Amino acid sequence: MGRMSIPDYMIEFHRNAARQAPGSDDSTRRALSLVPGVDMVRRVLDLGCGTGAQSLVLAQETGATITAVDILPEFLEELEARARAAGVADRIATLEASMIDLDLPPEHYDLLWSEGSAYTVGFEAGLRYWKRFLAPGGALVVSELCWLTDDRPPEIEEYWAEGYPGIGTVEEKLAEAARAGYTCIEHFVLPPEAWTDGYYTPIRERSEAFSEAHGRDPEIDAFLDSGLDEAAMYDRFGEYYSYVFFVLRAG
Ligand SMILES: C[S@@+](CC[C@H](N)C(=O)[O-])C[C@H]1O[C@@H](n2cnc3c(N)ncnc32)[C@H](O)[C@@H]1O
Repeated sequence: MGRMSIPDYMIEFHRNAARQAPGSDDSTRRALSLVPGVDMVRRVLDLGCGTGAQSLVLAQETGATITAVDILPEFLEELEARARAAGVADRIATLEASMIDLDLPPEHYDLLWSEGSAYTVGFEAGLRYWKRFLAPGGALVVSELCWLTDDRPPEIEEYWAEGYPGIGTVEEKLAEAARAGYTCIEHFVLPPEAWTDGYYTPIRERSEAFSEAHGRDPEIDAFLDSGLDEAAMYDRFGEYYSYVFFVLRAG
């Protein structure tokens, strides 16, 4: 998504949320625990970090330095404030850039992290591009929206075919990762509470007040309704899809 195409109200709504995608600190920690040699991780590149839900956990759990990349400066400002409040600002450097056009040293990072963000550039394309930044023996942790079953009700098929045509089964995503030059060490499904408590419940709680504060603007209400619709789809069809964490190594 290009910076210029995002209205201010969308940035404001998401900036004030704890995270900008389904997830939880526990899931971030679980994925981190599956990284081989995690105790040796010194340099982390967090791609599409948003306001830093994962960046903070990664800094706290690893003691590493984190380069947190996002295309939106407003999210990075917020991340910096949160890092200061958490006492880890000295180990998190923010970088306003596109995650598929990075002027960063090759083979430099022990750990690449992309939580709920690879879809914005395409899963396989992102994986292919990011490999150059991995230090020898390093790992990439990436979460991606996947179908959990081979058969799905047409209503949810159509919903995600429009919302995210790149959605695929876990097997299809593993094949994409293999084509991009990775081997999967481990993968797991993001649990339902990371969708509800972690993402949709706060959206439900905040939407009404946000609408009121913006004078019931029809454009803003349509944006809020699309978030509420997405939450309602998850309530009805959440057994058919989820984010899946993939812990990958190059080669
Ligand atoms: C769904 S949010 C997830 C944010 C965060 N990882 C989280 O889980 O809360 C996707 C993030 O990717 C960022 N983004 C989208 N396209 C990007 C690009 N080309 N380069 C860098 N960041 C991008 C957005 O600004 C947003 O912060």
